Amino acid sequence: MKGDPRIITALNARLVEEFTAINQYSANEALLRNWQYGKLADYLAERRADEQKHYTMLLDQILFLEGTPVAGMLNPVQPGKTVPEMLAFDHTSEQNAIRGYNATIALCCEVGDEITAQILRSIIADEADHINDIEARQTQISQTGLGCFLAVQIGG
Ligand SMILES: [Fe+2]
Ligand SMILES: [Fe+2]
Repeated sequence: MKGDPRIITALNARLVEEFTAINQYSANEALLRNWQYGKLADYLAERRADEQKHYTMLLDQILFLEGTPVAGMLNPVQPGKTVPEMLAFDHTSEQNAIRGYNATIALCCEVGDEITAQILRSIIADEADHINDIEARQTQISQTGLGCFLAVQIGG
């Protein structure tokens, strides 16, 4: 089914963002494993799996709309050097993702592509969960202190 070219362009921009998120979470996960904060690393691995699922959903929809997916393009990846920095950078990435999905859903409504809009609504619900999880961890750090928070993350 031939899709609107503006939708395909927007889906490709979201595809690049998802690929960037996968790379950022992989980098942060590797650093956490190196520090042996296994529990936080396991949580990041779950989040990365969600982003991989989003990547596949976008890729499938671009192909369904007879578009050409951009391959291998990345926005700047921002891994953190400390856990609070990771959380802050990841928070920014998730906020940007939500902004991008909201704009693309609005575009879908404008051109009358309800199928794509539904797919993006299911993705944006995951991104909202991600940002909520990041904010919960930021609150835990501010309430219990970084040392206590990290002590709980050891192992796994
Ligand atoms: Fe995502
Ligand atoms: Fe996300």
